[in-house]
Amino acid sequence: MYARIAGTGMYLPERVLTNFDLEAMVDTSDEWIRTRTGIERRHVVADGEFTSDLAYHASRAAIEDAGIEPGDIDFILVGTTTPDLIFPNVGCLVQERLGIHGTPAFSLEAACSGFLYALGVADQFVRGGQAKRALVVGAETMSRIIDWTDRETCVLFGDGAGAVVLEQAETPGIMYSNLGSDGRYRDLLYAANGVSVLPKEGEGAALRMKGNEVFKVAVKTLGGMVDEVLDKNGLEKGEIDWLIPHQANIRIIQAMAKRLRMPMERVILTIQEHGNTSAASVPMALDTAIRDGRVKRGDLLLLEAFGGGFTWGASLVRY
Ligand code: ACO
Repeated sequence: MYARIAGTGMYLPERVLTNFDLEAMVDTSDEWIRTRTGIERRHVVADGEFTSDLAYHASRAAIEDAGIEPGDIDFILVGTTTPDLIFPNVGCLVQERLGIHGTPAFSLEAACSGFLYALGVADQFVRGGQAKRALVVGAETMSRIIDWTDRETCVLFGDGAGAVVLEQAETPGIMYSNLGSDGRYRDLLYAANGVSVLPKEGEGAALRMKGNEVFKVAVKTLGGMVDEVLDKNGLEKGEIDWLIPHQANIRIIQAMAKRLRMPMERVILTIQEHGNTSAASVPMALDTAIRDGRVKRGDLLLLEAFGGGFTWGASLVRY
């Protein structure tokens, strides 16, 4: 038994913040942001709009795309590092909005790798026969944990949500998942607004990143991981149809494309429109490419992400 992607969906909050808007907020420039990151604009939530709202709308779209009813879902998992509340978890909040009762529903936090982690876990439940149709979501309101006075981080992130419906299938589907983490790097990228750890005096409750050092470890780790995915699946470089990477920095994405000997035309880029939406970026990029007709049924996809923890993950998918 395997899990296949039966449907996808995404949702972006209405408000758009351009690089030019940010020029008026911190000492930065559209030119710096575009050339260093590839980002041109990002979406941010309105007051009173929460991660579970974005996750709900993306989920509705994925359920509709799969041609099923919410009641057909029997497993819900949301990857997020920006939950509405400590609890109930975002999975439960989405479950309630969808009018589903009794199924397992939970969220997991693996920063930008959250969706790949959620997909890897849900795949196990579907393959093991414990779930027939799983809803897997990546949803974030990064704007809520950003220090809007810190130009080194506030220009990078955005809000959004993406979702997929997995269903049982006799052929893959998800062919292979690879997940990893290394807590030694905890100080290079973290958000200090803890629950049992309180923010240090003067530090505030915001995301902090030593971007340059994260960049180097990200390129090295992702490079090793994609090599391993190819190796374990007997694939040659260039055999992947589409690379669907986490959208953190266009230069990291270009390095991965080069490593895979893939032209950039075969790489799904949404970073210019969405910025880094953490766990939401991969499912939103996937949905974007399916909607605009680039990714077709039968294509071989490599999904990958790297984020705080550090955490990383990849999924080889026959769509
Ligand atoms: N506008 C203008 N100048 C800036 C800005 C800004 N917004 N931010 C930093 N600078 C300046 C710095 O102060 C520095 O100035 P200096 O040379 O006078 O000291 C200069 O630009 C270069 O700064 P670097 O940090 O070396 O710039 P870099 O080329 O590394 O780009 C970036 C920074 C975009 C953050 C990059 O390092 C990066 O993308 N890192 C990886 C991010 C990532 O993958 N994170 C993981 C996922 S996120 C998650 O898990 C939540």
